[in-house]
Amino acid sequence: MALTIVDHPLAGTMLTALRDEATPPPLFRLLTKRLSLVLAVEATRGIPTATRTVTTPLAETQGIAFAAPLVAVPILRAGLGMLEAVTELFPEVAVGYLGLERDHATFQPSTYYSKLPDIGGSYVLLLDPMLATGGSAAAACASLYGAGPARVTLLSVVAAPEGIRRLEEEHPSLDVVTAAVDERLNDQAYIVPGLGDFGDRLFGT
Ligand code: PRP
Ligand code: URA
Repeated sequence: MALTIVDHPLAGTMLTALRDEATPPPLFRLLTKRLSLVLAVEATRGIPTATRTVTTPLAETQGIAFAAPLVAVPILRAGLGMLEAVTELFPEVAVGYLGLERDHATFQPSTYYSKLPDIGGSYVLLLDPMLATGGSAAAACASLYGAGPARVTLLSVVAAPEGIRRLEEEHPSLDVVTAAVDERLNDQAYIVPGLGDFGDRLFGT
């Protein structure tokens, strides 16, 4: 599994503001979108391209075009906060949705919604800001890999070592791009220091 920790100062300052418990939902949403733009740029560095001829006002020249279909799959709810960044960068992207909810006592995810486009041969950007135990991301990957994508990259805001280890074991071909790897999980399986419950902070619940 390839793990990329984005160390650009822009990502670091936005993540710091997201961690701040005083950051209210409107600013939290804005920062989530902006940080997701940075993560999406990093996550699509290796997307295949093909030559495209273009005519400038002065001459014909060779440029590039994306050569692989791109699919974004946010994990509801929190992943929705990352979606607009991807659709703005890649307007042609197809979007699928996975609704997963973690049980508060067992921390096991259950699926309550699934609507995926054809992802065979596609580059899939799986959007979920928190990688804690890894249960939700692993369940999402099991659905996605069954449909034959060319590549799946998880975009995460904060990851725990426990979740990274689990994904390495269960989905070694997954790529992960994150803004931070934190210290540990607490006994409620929240990431420490983390930023709290991402979905609640995003949607003000
Ligand atoms: C949160 C988060 C991830 C998941 C991570 O979702 O958005 O999807 O927990 O935890 P894990 O790695 O231990 O599975 P939650 O289930 O709280 O749902 P929500 O996004 O609707 O708040
Ligand atoms: N989900 C969250 O929203 N935050 C955590 O710290 C762990 C799981």
